[in-house]
Amino acid sequence: MMLGAVMTMGAANISSPNGEIKLHVDVNPQGQPYYNLSYKGKPVISDSKLGLAAQEAKFIDRFTILSTDTASFNETWHPVWGEYSEIVNHYNQLTVNMKNVDGLLMNICFRVFDDGMGFRYEFPIQDKANYLAVENEVTEFNFPGNNTMWVIPGDYDTDEYLFTETRISDVTEALKKYNGVHSESQREKALESTVQTPLLAKSDDGLYISLHEAALIGYPAMQLDVDTATYGLKSHLTPDRLGVRGYLQLPFNTPWRTIIVSDDARDILASQLILNLNEPSKIEDTSWIKPQKFIGVWWEMFTGRQKTWAYSDDYRAKPGVTDYTKLTPNGRHPANTENVKKYIDFAAENGFNGVLVEGWNEGWEDWASYRKNRQFLFDKPYPDFDLPYLREYAKEKGVKLIMHHETAANAQDYERQIDRAFQFMKDNNYDAVKTGYVGAIIPRSEHHTSQGMVDHAQFVIEKAAEYEIMVDSHEAPRPTGLIRTYPNWLAQESARGGEFESMGGNPPSHTAILPFTRLKGGPMDYTPGLFQTDLSYYNEGKTDKAMTTLARQLALYLTIPSPMQMAADLPENYMRFPDAFQFIKDVPIEWRDSKYLEAEPAKYITVARLDKNSDDWYVGGITDENPREAEIDFAFLPQGEKFKATIYADAPDAHWDTNPQAYSITTKTVTSKTKLKQKIAPGGGFAIRLEPMK
Ligand code: NOJ
Ligand code: CA
Repeated sequence: MMLGAVMTMGAANISSPNGEIKLHVDVNPQGQPYYNLSYKGKPVISDSKLGLAAQEAKFIDRFTILSTDTASFNETWHPVWGEYSEIVNHYNQLTVNMKNVDGLLMNICFRVFDDGMGFRYEFPIQDKANYLAVENEVTEFNFPGNNTMWVIPGDYDTDEYLFTETRISDVTEALKKYNGVHSESQREKALESTVQTPLLAKSDDGLYISLHEAALIGYPAMQLDVDTATYGLKSHLTPDRLGVRGYLQLPFNTPWRTIIVSDDARDILASQLILNLNEPSKIEDTSWIKPQKFIGVWWEMFTGRQKTWAYSDDYRAKPGVTDYTKLTPNGRHPANTENVKKYIDFAAENGFNGVLVEGWNEGWEDWASYRKNRQFLFDKPYPDFDLPYLREYAKEKGVKLIMHHETAANAQDYERQIDRAFQFMKDNNYDAVKTGYVGAIIPRSEHHTSQGMVDHAQFVIEKAAEYEIMVDSHEAPRPTGLIRTYPNWLAQESARGGEFESMGGNPPSHTAILPFTRLKGGPMDYTPGLFQTDLSYYNEGKTDKAMTTLARQLALYLTIPSPMQMAADLPENYMRFPDAFQFIKDVPIEWRDSKYLEAEPAKYITVARLDKNSDDWYVGGITDENPREAEIDFAFLPQGEKFKATIYADAPDAHWDTNPQAYSITTKTVTSKTKLKQKIAPGGGFAIRLEPMK
């Protein structure tokens, strides 16, 4: 790092390494710090205030700039897994050191990259402030115009929403449509014009702007209040139930507030800015961290066939019974020895590393109700789940069982059990766990995204690293790039996932906006791979229809990259379409390189990726509910080499609603000179495997 220190009393300016992004920082006549940001001469963020108010001290105004420090940094690092095997972290840094008339000290550190900017508050140790109970952060992101935004509603407890496209001026109206499906906390009046991050905005002069945060540690998650008249967005930290937005002990650095910007939508997808703002891996030996391609009994619970996580239905009728062998089994419990054995066989035959088994342990009888009479036990298998037998059987077949820890949001109890739970996993040959936090947090003093739950997530991931366990967390605070620091954090849900295809459906635009928004924080356990998309097929009550063609489900393995990738459908459905299933068997889950070829938020994405472990390339594309013709330019291929392309595409008459299972598989020779027009059906997609021809 090159350092330079300048004594100054006035404004400070800094640019990105390529000079295209310019940042200006100053204090206004009231001594309030503010910044503005431009890209290629166009305003991205107009004058926006900075500061933090705590009960004990207000770091808001009457500041003067004492000094500024500048530095530049350039490194290339190698993630354990991901979309790229190399990531360049190149920025210019400006730290503005300030003092106000009360003697309070606050430094703000800005890092300006070619693809955007991150900044954070750094509160040094000081005489006038020590412990802080945060009232509010005044960080503003004021847009110069009435941008279009893709947002989900503000909510302290869930992010499992569909995105809405709206002008800033219409946000309040646009969010009203969620009335009735909001979680309890969201209904608070205060949140009626609040949105969650990562959000994407597009300006009328063609800039794409992503707002989020990086390295959320020891602090509540940030949502944004929208001022529909001034187009201003302002930080809104999730409070605890007492209304406090974080308890800090100085010195303390807040998470980074991030702004990614480009005039090309593809750059937003390719940006690694959020990872770059996180600390390097704290895990030295990462050899035990392995991406997971897995199957599971999971979808059986969603198809409408009345399958349950619980072993018995009569638990509530017999309060006080703790000996599960005395209960009558309900016969609808997929986590049983025979069934799981079949999944292990199927995984072994088809090259999956893992089998996720949900509903294997005691405690599911009353799990989703507000009474939660019974807590989960993470070392007590149900009587019909013969773990010693399955453990040995899986071992023989070269497959790992994947653990499931649904906590029903009793985070405190999970912390009490966690050592026993993780040791139990190790003793039984598990090395990955899916965690879950369904329902209101118990005890009820926290929200899913308040500081207490952010701390809990940190506790779990560090504990997991100690035990060499990989984690896929559901209903946790949405990711902020911490996968760089803890690469055992393979994935999170933290958005509306594929399961909603059985609960109202995800419109095709949903998977075309997730990569621009939620995925900027880290990979998602979306659960793609549904081949039987019309659930009335099962003839047992459900009429839901996944809003996707079969070919699109293949494309999702490329457009929603994750090192934890499920083939979510039932094995019997894969056996009905073995030629299409071949793609799921082949597709890698970690990459050497990625090239975004075409992209427009909520409309379409086409991406090419190079396998980390071979010279095969893959290309995937999706559209929204409109048909589309992707134009694939294979210029990314090495020159002069021929590739055999196997193209999995929508058939000419395919349509997500009326003809979802119509697909074609064709082969073709392509080189770096090839250009291909590929038709995509409404709600459709395509996936191509490219193998070098020797
Ligand atoms: C919600 C999760 O998203 C889902 O994947 C899981 O199966 C259920 N909770 C039960 O834990
Ligand atoms: Ca969920």
